[in-house]
Amino acid sequence: KSSLEDTLLAAIRTIPDYPKPGILFRDITTLLSDARAFRRAIDELVHPYAGLKIDKIAGIEARGFILGGAVAHQLSAGFVPIRKKGKLPYETVRVAYSLEYGLDEMEMHKDGVSPGEKVILVDDLIATGGTAEAAVKLLRQIGADIVAACFVIDLPDIGGRKKLEALGVPVRTLIGYEGH
Ligand code: PRP
Ligand code: MG
Repeated sequence: KSSLEDTLLAAIRTIPDYPKPGILFRDITTLLSDARAFRRAIDELVHPYAGLKIDKIAGIEARGFILGGAVAHQLSAGFVPIRKKGKLPYETVRVAYSLEYGLDEMEMHKDGVSPGEKVILVDDLIATGGTAEAAVKLLRQIGADIVAACFVIDLPDIGGRKKLEALGVPVRTLIGYEGH
């Protein structure tokens, strides 16, 4: 394993049986509170895009706001929040997506991104890819040009990356947990 992977793996805390029995919760709060690990993660997320003209970073509520804000700052890009429904005050575009139990909806301001703008989507983790797929649909409804979707953590056995790649979105992840 590279030193980057070692640094990230050591900084992410795993909580067994949260939020319910059988789930291993990958907790990034310990990565965020570790100055060196946080910087390394952000540096690694942005490095392929340094020097490119990226207009906006779209961050997915809630942990994607923290990582996406740091990525936006580093790339001198704007930041756009993608939120669970009912939280945004102005006119929105909205999309339904499936959770483990039932449906939820996500939305973003309709003027958050202009048609043709280059956008990078950021979240902490991709599992089924359902959340990120919904975000891709929202961004495309507005006419965004999605350059990539970036996540710190991949759970490759669940298959979210393939789902996004099938939509034509390049996916970038820093570490994977096999067998989740
Ligand atoms: C988690 C995680 C991702 C999403 C990934 O968020 O932060 O956003 O699930 O799952 P998926 O690929 O199967 O869709 P969660 O829904 O727990 O909400 P939060 O970030 O607001 O805590
Ligand atoms: Mg989330």
